[in-house]
Amino acid sequence: MRILGIETSCDETAAAVVEDGTKILSNVVASSVELHQKAGGIIPEVAAREQLKCLIPVIEEALGRGKVEALAVTVGPGLIGSLLVGVETAKTLAYIWKKPVVPVNHLQAHLYANWLEGKKPRFPALGLVVSGGHTDLVLMKDHGKIKWLGGTRDDAAGECFDKTARVLGLPYPGGPEISKLAKKGNSQTYNLPRPMIKQENFDLSFSGLKTAVINLTRKEKKIKKADMAAGIQQAIIDVILAKTAKAAEKFKVKSVLLAGGVAANQQLREQMEAKLAPLFIPKPQLCTDNATYIASNAFFNYQPVSWQEIAADSGLRIESDVDFS
Ligand code: KG4
Ligand code: ZN
Repeated sequence: MRILGIETSCDETAAAVVEDGTKILSNVVASSVELHQKAGGIIPEVAAREQLKCLIPVIEEALGRGKVEALAVTVGPGLIGSLLVGVETAKTLAYIWKKPVVPVNHLQAHLYANWLEGKKPRFPALGLVVSGGHTDLVLMKDHGKIKWLGGTRDDAAGECFDKTARVLGLPYPGGPEISKLAKKGNSQTYNLPRPMIKQENFDLSFSGLKTAVINLTRKEKKIKKADMAAGIQQAIIDVILAKTAKAAEKFKVKSVLLAGGVAANQQLREQMEAKLAPLFIPKPQLCTDNATYIASNAFFNYQPVSWQEIAADSGLRIESDVDFS
């Protein structure tokens, strides 16, 4: 089954055609990130207007001359203005083409990037979604059966990269910039906190790390930026790795699935690979926002609705609405 995925939850406008949830036939992404760089972060209205401008051409390119049997669209979570552009477009296309449309949860969908490279993760799986807006650890008992184990109490991991990068005067988005700079730095020069690392739960917190970086930068006139970048990156990795390893052991999972923009981080990938097995990490282009995993998610959780029923929900949570008992 060929599904057209549409993703507009934030500042990427994306469309993709995926066959049977596993084979990528096309993958088109337009990003408005450059427009947000001057402001050092995303401006929701600018992002939504860019979505409007880009979505139809992006869908046209993704479709080519091919035909699809169904549509899938991110309904949340995300910026409401951006989400509405995708949802209303999918609704209109479903109506005109008389095709079914599947509403997709963006956070659950991130995990499906792990089904797109010829591999087949086994259940129960532990999922770690580390993105700009979310850091969630989930137990995936089966397709559509996702239980939330814990997550960040304040800033998301990507948000911490982005905010500390800003303190160091680096452009947005901060994750790739910190990781580049960190290659030349010593992660032990600065003593940075690993909040909640010893606690027995699966919750995380990153705002203390951000505050520590702000305080150190104020105190020391000449900060060694590369060392600070390496220190920030390692502190984030240490906390994520400790909590993920603990959850993998406790729930005796058969696979660990990494997903989300921060999973593109090379050091995180290497350090996780050294410690966790069997581990699945999508290639970096499939970690950051795109529509391939939206289509894949819709295939494995095929619950189409009529176009009248589809609606955006900016506050959607990762956990599925099922009985786990
Ligand atoms: O999943 P994503 O593309 O969008 C959201 O749904 O949020 O994630 C974006 C986040 C940003 O915070 C960005 O700084 C971070 O992913 N990121 C990285 C890297 N590439 C992107 N963080 C660390 N290292 C990277 N290489
Ligand atoms: Zn995302």
